[in-house]
Amino acid sequence: MIQKINSLEEYQAAYQKSVAQPEAFWADQAESFTWRKKWDNVLEWNFREPSIKWFQGGKLNITENCLDRHLNERGDETALIWEANDPEEHFRKFTYRELYTKVCQFANVLKNNGAKKGDRICIYMPMVPELAIAVLACARIGAIHSVVFGGFSAQSIADRIQDAQCSMVITSDGGYRGTKEIQLKSVIDDALVQCPSVKRVIVLTRSRTPVSMIKGRDVWWEDEIKKVETLGMTECAAEEMDAEDMLFILYTSGSTGKPKGVVHTCGGYMVYSAYTFQNVFQYNPGEVHFCTADIGWITGHSYIVYGPLLSGATSLMFEGIPTWPDAGRFWDIVDKYKVNILYTAPTAIRSLMSFGLDPLKGKELSSLTKLGSVGEPINEEAWHWYDEHIGKKQCPITDTWWQTETGGIMIAPIAGITPTKPGYATLPLPGIQPILVDENGKEVQGNGVSGNLCIKFPWPGMLRTTYGDHERCRLNYFSTYENLYFTGDGCLRDEDGYYRITGRVDDVLNVSGHRIGTAEVENAINMYSDVIESAVVGYPHAVKGQGIYAFVICTPHLNDEELTRKDILMTVSRIIGPIAKPDKIQFVSGLPKTRSGKIMRRILRKIAEGDVSNLGDTSTLLDPQVVEEIKSGALLSV
Ligand code: PRX
Repeated sequence: MIQKINSLEEYQAAYQKSVAQPEAFWADQAESFTWRKKWDNVLEWNFREPSIKWFQGGKLNITENCLDRHLNERGDETALIWEANDPEEHFRKFTYRELYTKVCQFANVLKNNGAKKGDRICIYMPMVPELAIAVLACARIGAIHSVVFGGFSAQSIADRIQDAQCSMVITSDGGYRGTKEIQLKSVIDDALVQCPSVKRVIVLTRSRTPVSMIKGRDVWWEDEIKKVETLGMTECAAEEMDAEDMLFILYTSGSTGKPKGVVHTCGGYMVYSAYTFQNVFQYNPGEVHFCTADIGWITGHSYIVYGPLLSGATSLMFEGIPTWPDAGRFWDIVDKYKVNILYTAPTAIRSLMSFGLDPLKGKELSSLTKLGSVGEPINEEAWHWYDEHIGKKQCPITDTWWQTETGGIMIAPIAGITPTKPGYATLPLPGIQPILVDENGKEVQGNGVSGNLCIKFPWPGMLRTTYGDHERCRLNYFSTYENLYFTGDGCLRDEDGYYRITGRVDDVLNVSGHRIGTAEVENAINMYSDVIESAVVGYPHAVKGQGIYAFVICTPHLNDEELTRKDILMTVSRIIGPIAKPDKIQFVSGLPKTRSGKIMRRILRKIAEGDVSNLGDTSTLLDPQVVEEIKSGALLSV
């Protein structure tokens, strides 16, 4: 078993060992899994190239650890519970044995359709159990899954498919989110016009919306399952993988216009997602874990699918949204399934807070024992509301800081063990060595300090590369500061040595917990025919955390501002997806630029925040007059 931390002393001891003898520490954790062959070498690394190899020479398949090894002991226990978008629709439950069979069947379907080890498979599905099954089936045959969130546009999908040269897509006819029906297959059809690498599309029936099925390319999930059933193919031997073989690619935004494919590998990710799941949430056998994220994001990968299943836990997945049919939906789900651990995002908490306490009437919430938060800084008001009204002051709150690139939780209280402080992710987990640096890369030592957050030693769950472009990985994460992994986040360490993440220090926004690059949004806005140039910044938003504020220069003949605004929003939706739509668009005649042509975003950020009194030094601007114009037209009250 993974070494469980049971007290603050044990946390300290584990932490010290993980720093003094990292290899021995992680080898101990890795021992608890099923390996076809043990590793030759625990760790080999340098952050220069970078080259990071954990458990080299080890052979395994992560699905044998998620499924097969539980069959004897807990084959009849529930692995997955699914709650539909519509509360009237019957829930579904899968025991470990049932999930095992479903995964094996679908793995055979993948093989029958030509998929093999090393192939990249794009998954674009709603939050239905078949999404988790598809993910695991890919891992079973050694294919590399690239899940794309169901809210992304055809263009975004096409970019991701092309980048990874996927040979197959798994999707569904449609999906539901609240009152909306999303036409997934039709979006895929639009995307695939640009993707000749895709030879096969497997389509699950979910919404029964009419779809076009392209001859020779598209097949129905259900038909393919029938074929393997007829052939009696209920088992599927797991492919033997090297610990450092790729497990999945997950695209995320950075400060450039193009999202990057973060690569995670089989062995290290397995050990890290399970270790963090069991320790941070203090998971006890039999507990029901409800992570409200979508599997299209890393949180869903690590804490709906892999972490819980590796731990033999019961993982609950929910298709819908927290506010439909009403703002009591999460609480109904908690009561219905006697959820013990609830893991959600500050944006959801803030949104539910805005409905007041009425939606909580008649909800017991007495099954809850631990609460988690992820994705963005949690403001104190939301923290206290979560604590008082959901946890009834009986449930520890664990504010977990981590990233797509880190694979699992990095800085967080061990639930019920590490004393918490609202707004603080508190202390690093064992194996994680954070350091704060100033702009020059000099370490900021001691407590009561702030700086840019870096990590100075590898951990098993960290990214290995960005797909197809290793140099980009080096430049993005390992070149800003020598010998350090740079997170892109600002951070303060208080007098007690507790960490508080203050937000991104690069041009990345965090909107409702979704990571969006300002350059990506600008590129999308600039696609609109009447736009000459644009600059995008974030500003504080009461529910979303950050809102998107766009300053846009249009061609002089622009006459209907309202219509143009709508057209721009439509364009961004088409190019990226609705999540990237600006909250405010201000039309301007110029942007504040330095003499060398660089946009001074600092000034735009201040204006967007409504803090125009002190814009700092504007003397280096090419045309200081433009700032006055932008200031007077700022959309502060919209
Ligand atoms: O800025 C940090 C913020 O989200 C970023 C990572 O986004 P993503 O890769 O999409 O992963 C989100 C889910 C793990 C980080 O660089 N972030 C994440 N968790 C927290 C956070 N900021 C403050 N507190 C957190 N708990």
